[in-house]
Amino acid sequence: MQRAEQSLVEGVNSPSRGAAVYPGGPIVIERGKASHVWDADGNEYVDFMLSFGALIQGHAHPYLVSVAAGAMSEGAHFAAATSAEVEAAERFRRMVPSAEVVRFTNTGSEATMLALRLARAHTGRTKFLKFEGHYHGWYDPYLLNAHAHPPAQLGTKEEPARIPDSGGIPATVFDDVVLAPWNDVTAFERVMRQHGKELAAVITEPIMANMGCIPPREGYLRRLRECTGDYGALLIFDEVVTGFRYAPGGCQEYYGTRPDLSTFGKALGAGFPVGAVAGPRAILERLRWGEHMVLHYGTFNGHRLTMKIIAANLDLLAAPDVYRRLHALGNAAIAGLRDVFGRHRLKAIVQGFGPMFQIYFTERSLIDDYRDYCAYVDTARYARFVALLLERGIYMTPANGLHWIISTAHTESDVQQLLEAADQASTELG
Ligand SMILES: Cc1ncc(COP(=O)(O)O)c(C=O)c1O
Repeated sequence: MQRAEQSLVEGVNSPSRGAAVYPGGPIVIERGKASHVWDADGNEYVDFMLSFGALIQGHAHPYLVSVAAGAMSEGAHFAAATSAEVEAAERFRRMVPSAEVVRFTNTGSEATMLALRLARAHTGRTKFLKFEGHYHGWYDPYLLNAHAHPPAQLGTKEEPARIPDSGGIPATVFDDVVLAPWNDVTAFERVMRQHGKELAAVITEPIMANMGCIPPREGYLRRLRECTGDYGALLIFDEVVTGFRYAPGGCQEYYGTRPDLSTFGKALGAGFPVGAVAGPRAILERLRWGEHMVLHYGTFNGHRLTMKIIAANLDLLAAPDVYRRLHALGNAAIAGLRDVFGRHRLKAIVQGFGPMFQIYFTERSLIDDYRDYCAYVDTARYARFVALLLERGIYMTPANGLHWIISTAHTESDVQQLLEAADQASTELG
């Protein structure tokens, strides 16, 4: 780390890997295979972080390795039209029902950037609504109340305090952002009555995945759909985390709610950097060259090697039984953890279902939104718990705002190892 610090700020390339999350210094990972990783000291772990959810097929999947090697030997990228991008897009459209057409970007952040630009061009409106505690990447206007803060700083639900997450963003950028609490239909309808007609879009994570794992209340997404339609604002589902994870067509398929636009990343690329915006042709056609077009350049857009990986990844995900197995294994881990916490009489809950979940040390029986997370979750206790798991061969980020991920590479014995480690860690945590 001393050597790394000479060349890299904090010795890393993202604050989520730096000192704020790993005060004792980050764990340096050297290699991975299937559901396991090895660090620079030779320690082996079962990986439940999986590149923040990107590695839906685990590490170094043999088929993806052969596809990557083949693509590399022919030339990784040409910044020209290729059949690889068509093959990736065709498979994407088959899996995501709302995707009449798709545009590939290089990251989830680029996808949410582009989705907002498209929504603004399509509606001729400038403002948009984001929810407290939702993270949509590091583009300027999204960096408002994406981080947790002490409850005293949050203002009221009716008038939330507006807290920028980064320096270097002109305050005027946030003039176009309407901020609302999530998972509360009454609050949403109130904000829409006030601002709905000025909004280009409402952007939401369908499952709140950056304050741990907070599923939407029954009917909530459906109400967002109806209400945005009433006011002529586009509904954007940011499925960067949930896409290709909960169902072939993401949360929009799982919950049966069709957004206007949706954004993808992470699991789509199985570990390669990619993002995507998908939606109806009537909106995405604005990308076509012309007088009022929406500009989206990018040397690496439709990166050929990545497109080959996407096509192969989506073929693997389209195989029978994949999602049933992801859900079953995740639900077994969740039930097992609940049992461990119950036996140890720890005040801890496990939220989420199937392939994604999070543990909260809390007196509450439910963490339902950003304000609950800020007020009632003992994130320091969670970090201690994860440190104890790390000592027992379970790899996870100590950041409570993230979530546990199940990949196709995980096995029943990985889950068993997690439960045994959780049992021992619970004894020690007390
Ligand atoms: C919901 C959501 N949207 C967008 C992003 C940004 O994606 P990326 O990190 O690929 O830029 C993230 C990243 O964690 C995310 O969780």
